[in-house]
Amino acid sequence: MPRITLVLGDITAEEADAVVNAANSSLLGGGGVDGAIHRRGGPEILAACEDLRRSHYGKGLATGRAVATTAGRLPAEHVIHTVGPVWSRDEDRSELLASCYRESLRIADELGARSVAFPAISTGIYGWPMDDGARIAVETVRSVRTEVEEVRFVLFDERAYAAFAAAVDA
Ligand code: AR6
Repeated sequence: MPRITLVLGDITAEEADAVVNAANSSLLGGGGVDGAIHRRGGPEILAACEDLRRSHYGKGLATGRAVATTAGRLPAEHVIHTVGPVWSRDEDRSELLASCYRESLRIADELGARSVAFPAISTGIYGWPMDDGARIAVETVRSVRTEVEEVRFVLFDERAYAAFAAAVDA
């Protein structure tokens, strides 16, 4: 089981073997973490995403899946793009959110990554309640068999940090 650490800050500044992007199925950028990663990482990341769309994901990357590219100019080695579910009041999409963490760690293992930095997937533009998103993130990471040694959750504000701290202690 990987060691879990919590950091308050901007995920684009993290020095980790891989940082995870809260992407959308187009893989072609957006707001939030996705916008920040493409801005700071530079055009190499977008070029790699466009290649992936052409070669493997003509219809886009499905929700709950993950795929890796270069990290461009980011301090990390790799970016793992995953597509979180949009929060729904009517439908339980928890399994798709858990899948984002599981699939990202599976890709990290394929890359040989030992440290992986995650944002709080789906808890921004996609509207997932922070406490529940934190619980699913921590429970899933604890349940996965992986060679990754450190999972770092990079939280953007105090509220997110508190939610993850509570989930770790639960
Ligand atoms: N570093 C760390 N955390 C951040 C950063 C940052 N630089 N920026 C935002 N957060 P979001 P989602 C937090 O919206 O909900 C994009 O348009 C933020 O406060 O980035 O999965 C994509 O293209 C929140 O807690 O991702 C998709 O269309 C968390 O990171 C859509 O947004 C996730 O917020 C994905 O939405």
